[in-house]
Amino acid sequence: MNREEMLGIVREQITAHRYQHTLGVMECAIQLAKIYGADVQKAEVAAIFHDYAKFRDIQEMEEIIRNVPSIPLDLLEYDKELYHAPVGAYLVEHEVGIKDPEILDAIAYHTTGRPQMSVLEKVVCLADYIEPGRHFPGVDEVRELAMLDLDQALAKSLENTMRFLEKKGQVIYPLTRGAYLSLTGEKKEKRTN
Ligand SMILES: [Fe+2]
Ligand SMILES: [Fe+2]
Repeated sequence: MNREEMLGIVREQITAHRYQHTLGVMECAIQLAKIYGADVQKAEVAAIFHDYAKFRDIQEMEEIIRNVPSIPLDLLEYDKELYHAPVGAYLVEHEVGIKDPEILDAIAYHTTGRPQMSVLEKVVCLADYIEPGRHFPGVDEVRELAMLDLDQALAKSLENTMRFLEKKGQVIYPLTRGAYLSLTGEKKEKRTN
């Protein structure tokens, strides 16, 4: 499948606005993959499909979460905004036929992150946060950091997200806190060496 074919598939699943966002994430993920040594082609594919399930019916997504053993059931107790990432990975595998586990994981964890992320997962997660269509407080700082230090940039984006959720009184998904601690812990280890 070439880029145009993949984009054609995604375009039918999402709104025009989300499609523009997807193009931004794709460009950004390719750029970050080149800088930080992730597989550029895999970054492109994961970015193109990362929001594939964004507009699926909530009931359909809940059904998939209940029935697919690889998706943690406790997700149902958290914000519905989180559903589209692991459900998207499942649907991209079974509807589009993409089988590469590294690409599917990058889709599955693009919203929450997780501890010990691969470089590819970090690149897609960060690209989703900083693509040029994103406008919110703190994003420029993360954009600058993204050119200097992948882990620091991602940690900052997760910190911003957690702070935002706390302000709204929302529960933070454990994997997000785990991702943050994993990134900042790794940094501390490096510093003591
Ligand atoms: Fe998303
Ligand atoms: Fe996204």
